[in-house]
Formats: sequence, C-alpha cells, structure tokens
Amino acid sequence: DVAARIEDLLGGMTLAEKAGQMLQLDARGDLVDAVQGRLAGSLLHATPERIEEAAALTTRTRLRIPLLIAEDCVHGHGFRSGATVLPSQLGMACTWDPELLERAARMVATEVAATGVHWTFSPVLCIARDTRWGRVGETFGEDPYLIGELGAAMIIGYQGDGPGDPDAVLACAKHFAGYSQTVGGRDATETELSRRALRSWFLPPFERAVRAGCRTVMLGYQSIDGVPVTANRWLIDEVLKTEWGFTGILVTDWDNVGRMVWEQRILADDVTAATTAVRAGNDIVMSTPVFSEAAQEAVARGDLAVGQLDDAVRRILRLKFDLGLFDGGRTAPPVAVIGSAPHRALNLEVARRSLVLLRNDGTLPLLPTGAGPQRTIAVLGPNADDPDAQLGDWAGRSGQVDWLPDGHPRATITTVLDGLRRHVPAGWHVTSARGADIGSMTPDPEGPVFADGQPRPPVFEASPPDPALLAEAVRVARAADWAVVVLGDLPALAGEGRSTATLELLGGQQALLEAVVGSGTPVIVVLVQSKPSVLPEAATRAAAIVQAFNPGMEGGRAIAELLLGLVEPSGRLPITVPRHAGQLPVYYNQIRGQHGSRYADLTQDPLFAFGEGLGYGRPVYESLTLREHTVRPDGVVVARVRLGNSGERPVRETVQVYVRDLVTSVTWAERELKAFRQVDIAPGAVVDVELAIPASACTVVDAEGRRRVEPGRFELLAGHSSRDEDLLRTEFDIMA
Ligand code: IFM
Repeated sequence: DVAARIEDLLGGMTLAEKAGQMLQLDARGDLVDAVQGRLAGSLLHATPERIEEAAALTTRTRLRIPLLIAEDCVHGHGFRSGATVLPSQLGMACTWDPELLERAARMVATEVAATGVHWTFSPVLCIARDTRWGRVGETFGEDPYLIGELGAAMIIGYQGDGPGDPDAVLACAKHFAGYSQTVGGRDATETELSRRALRSWFLPPFERAVRAGCRTVMLGYQSIDGVPVTANRWLIDEVLKTEWGFTGILVTDWDNVGRMVWEQRILADDVTAATTAVRAGNDIVMSTPVFSEAAQEAVARGDLAVGQLDDAVRRILRLKFDLGLFDGGRTAPPVAVIGSAPHRALNLEVARRSLVLLRNDGTLPLLPTGAGPQRTIAVLGPNADDPDAQLGDWAGRSGQVDWLPDGHPRATITTVLDGLRRHVPAGWHVTSARGADIGSMTPDPEGPVFADGQPRPPVFEASPPDPALLAEAVRVARAADWAVVVLGDLPALAGEGRSTATLELLGGQQALLEAVVGSGTPVIVVLVQSKPSVLPEAATRAAAIVQAFNPGMEGGRAIAELLLGLVEPSGRLPITVPRHAGQLPVYYNQIRGQHGSRYADLTQDPLFAFGEGLGYGRPVYESLTLREHTVRPDGVVVARVRLGNSGERPVRETVQVYVRDLVTSVTWAERELKAFRQVDIAPGAVVDVELAIPASACTVVDAEGRRRVEPGRFELLAGHSSRDEDLLRTEFDIMA
C-alpha cells in the first residue's frame, strides 16, 4: 500500500534528497541546478516546455521522484496564451455566489491541469481593510464570513473529486494569516495583531478552508508582534495543525526563510533560518535555494533531527502519490479545453455577475425597450480600451510572471469599447476618445539600489492632464447622447509590493471627468480598476456609476450588456468604498460604540457600503419574521423575509442577514454578516426567502481569546445591504 511505499522510499533517501523534496524553486532559473543539483521536489512558474525539460532531468536523479508543479492561477491561468482569464478575485466576490465560483474554479482547474500544473496558489483569504494595500484586488473583500464561503467554494471547485481527479488541481489558502493588515497598507511589513484579533477576524476564513478540505496553505510575508509567520509556532502548530487538524502541506511565501536573515534580521545565518522554519512546521520552502545545504548543515550540527525533516517529506510524498505522479504520472486534460467556448461562456457569466451598479438616476439602461431612435454613445477614458487594465494582476504582461511579454492575444479580450461597438443596435453610433492618461512606471529618482544593494523597484509617475486629449474628449462627448467614461487604475498600481498612498483616480482622470461632466452630456462612470478608489466630486454629478473590479477577458462585453440593458445588474459590494482615504479603515463590521469614532471634519459614513448594489428592477422588503424567537445554543434561527419587486424589470436580489449581539463581554462588531441568499424576482412578484443562522455562529471572541456564544438577546437585521436604512430588524434570544 501507499503508506508502505512511502516509508520504503523515505527509508532509502539521503539527507540531501530529503531537504531537496522540501525545496520549491523558480523554473525560470537554472533547471539543472534546481533538479539535479539541489534535488528540488517542486517548481513554480514553469511553462509547459520547462515542465517537460524538468521532468526529463528528474529521470537522471537517483530516485526519480516526480516534481510537484505550482503556479499562481488566481483568476484563470493568466500566463498561458489563450487561457480563460476571469475577473479578479475581488470581481468574483461581487457575485456573492459560491455555486458560480465553484464552477468557475472547476473550469480554471481543467485549464491549469491541461498545462501540466498540479497546484494553484489560490484562493487568497486575507481580509481587505486598509485599501491602500496593493493586493486588495486579490481578495474576496472585507468580510470573514463571505470570504470563507466564497473561498471554500473555490477550493472545492479547484480540488474536484480529490487529488486523483486528473481535471483537478490542489488549492492553496493564503496568506496565513493577517498579511493584509501590515502597517500603513504597505506590503509585507509588520502587522500589529493580537491573538484575539486574529481569532476574531483573520483566522476564521482559513479555518473554513481547512474544513472544506484545502490540501495546502501558504504563509504570508509579514511578521506579527515581532515574529515572522514562518517562525510562528503558535499559528502553525497550535492553531493550524493541532486545533484545526490540518494535515496538508504548508508552503512559505517567496524566500520567507532567507528573509528572516537578510530582511527581517531576526536570525544570523541560513542554517538557523532553516532550523527555525523546519521546527515551526513548514513543509515546502519557496525560493530559498540555500535551504537544502542549510538544512543538511543543521542536521550535521545536531540542531535538527532527521525525523523533523521526515515528517514534512512524508507529507510531500503522500501528496505526490495521491496526485498519481508516481506510477506513470497523471493524464492531463486535452489542451483544447484551454479557452474553449464553454469556458468563455462561463467567464462571461461570471463577468456579468461581477459588475456592481452603484448609482443610477434612471439613465440606465440605455436601450429603451423596442426599437429606439438613432443614438450616439461616446466611449471615453484611459481604461475604455486597455486590455491590461481590464485583466489586472497575474495575467500575461500585467502580472508578476513574465511568460507572456506581449500579453494575451488581443482578439481574446473584449474591452468596453469593443463591447459597445459590437452590441449597440443597428443605427446607433459609438465614438471614442482617450481623454487622459493615468501614468507609467519610471526608474526610482532616489537611485537604482537601496543602501543594502537591493535593487529599487521602479516607481509610478502619474501623467499630468493633457489639454489636447481633454479638448478632444469634450468635443466627442458634446456630439453624443451619453458619455461612458471608463476610469480606474493600472496593473502598475496593484499587486505585490505595489501598495498606493492615495486612493484617488490618478493622472489626468479627474480633470477628464470634470470636463466631460461639465459638457452637459449625461455621464456614466465605469470604474475598471483593481480596488475601490475615492471618487472626485464630479462623480456625484454623473448619471450612473458602475464598478468593475478587473472584469477579465469578457469584461467589456459584460459592461456593454449591462449599460444597454441586455442583462440585469446583480453584483454587490464585498468591500466598502470610502469617501476619503483618511477614513480608512472604513469596513462595515467595526467595533461599535466608541464616542470618539467620528472625525470632526468628515463623516465616517462610507460613499458606498458593504453589500450595496442596484438592479434595474426595484426590490422592496416587506417583512421579516422568525420561526422562533428563542433558541438553544445548538439551535438554528430561521428568518423568513418577504420581498417584492416594484420595478418594471426583473431583479436578482441578494438578501443579506446580519446579527448584532446586544450585550457582549468584550467590545465587539456593530453587526456581522451571517447568511445571504440570492433570489430572482419578476416585476410585480412577491417572494418569501428563508435563511438559517445557527446559534453557534453568533459568537464573540472573549477576553481570553475563546470563541463562544454568549447567551442573551440578539438583533437580527435582514435586507438589501449593510446600511441601516436598508435593513428590517427583529430580536431573538439564545438560551443559556
Ligand atoms: O503565490 C505568490 C504569493 O501570493 C506572493 N508571493 C509570490 C508567490 C508565488 O508567486
């Protein structure tokens, strides 16, 4: 049996072979050194050609242990030409639809597996509270429950029927834990998180992922209270492995082990770093080439016992057996699945559902029912026809990986301009003008290297408003019936190491919006961007605002259909949109009360709240009733919500249920999302929706750090968004 084969293999392995199995190296580097020299057990960032080359090299190693291949396929296989690139994870989160995301992940898994990759570093389960952080677009937003539900769905989708399923890939819950909370929103620095805060908000999505069967977990770059997570035995050993019973693979982030020496400087040399990482319970060490020698030296010095390495290697070998990598390898799905028509159709469905209509004075939808007169739509703005801005990070030339220097084939991407040109009715005209630039990367004016010799990454330089571009845009807008102004950010302003100090629309964009709004033509603002921005005053004078978080290859078509009214808008915000960067953090489930929590010069009310999003129909909440108002701690509160649609078009409404514990032993969140459900309502119809909230989910984390139900009275709020005015309320008791 497999266990016996693993023990047999392990028994015959040298120390170098064991340390090598724990090492994951970059396939863009020297493959002979990685596979034959360091005996690396795993590679990342490998093209199909490099995968083949590496496999051939393993046949020249003594034990011929197959390689585990990993890639960041976080919204599709972004580095494979022709692959299906979905909306970003934040875009996908706007669907609030776990079932849809499970199907999307299943589709991605097939495409990824077809390229010979076994493992995707997805999903991200970080909580986005400080939106200056560059990786907000890679998250599911700000709410632990929504993140947990969507993350679990994607994990189940990726992993299919288990590692033996050739169409499946391993999922990876990352970045464990609290990575998004680094100081100032700056990436990969220190976080100031108590264990209680971790247990309250940042750990639950990971626990949910473990319960969903996620086979791997990745640590973040950050340190918490002085301890890099790579060395954090409490997080890894006590919580993840012992308390939650995680038996899968724990992988570090990029050179986390080396960073403890050269960056965080908590350890003097690589041998101590390898010792610390192994002792803390790391299984796979990403991109620290020196780890293999260092681990061997640690054993030679007596700092590590071989058994400590065996533990990790056993898990790695088990995974390789489960994946079917031994015994002739896996049968990958045919490459024809990549970018296939059904996959593009599913991508379009996700893109449509990912769009959030934030404001509409009735101007949308543009297409009146039946045939209309001839109309002209002016499509303006830097992101109206920019494939890179539309796809976002981890996709072709926009991403962190440089497999596709020329990006994805242009024909596979529909921009907003393409979408409107293709979908307006016969006789309508689409005109266009860029109007403004956002900016570009330039070498850091402070010099090419830091004091310690590390290269300084380039910096972003915003473009000033260009009077000629502006004048042209105003001229085109004036000659049109509507101006669709597509604004946002660029991949250069998002991603790892690319946090932003401001949240404003950069470059000439604000001047463009001001000028076009001033032209008198009704303006529809479409935000194609990685994360929420702070909108200029001119946006409040726009007729409509549509939020599109990097909506993927089909994004432009989905946006065109939404504007015209060929589909119903249904997305909901999974993250708060602030009025001002100074409001941060501005998430909805803040700790309540606190009489000093308002600024003297600005409301703490956001511009758009968590859960908001409009349709073209008009949902009306009529009543909220509970089946029982008193439940036992192991019982379930069943809420029945009656709602109708007083509009003239159908609506897909996301009914949201929040719970507020009226008295808690510690300060606690004002309200927390506990359930949601989507329902389609025809014009004039009334429906009843039932949502079940287990009493065991109505918990607080007490002063001792224990998560528990505190019996007593609770308020249950149900409705359209997290805003007070959108919620009906009632009360229930949980018995002692
Ligand atoms: O998976 C990523 C991680 O999210 C950030 N650092 C690099 C890893 C591998 O590319």
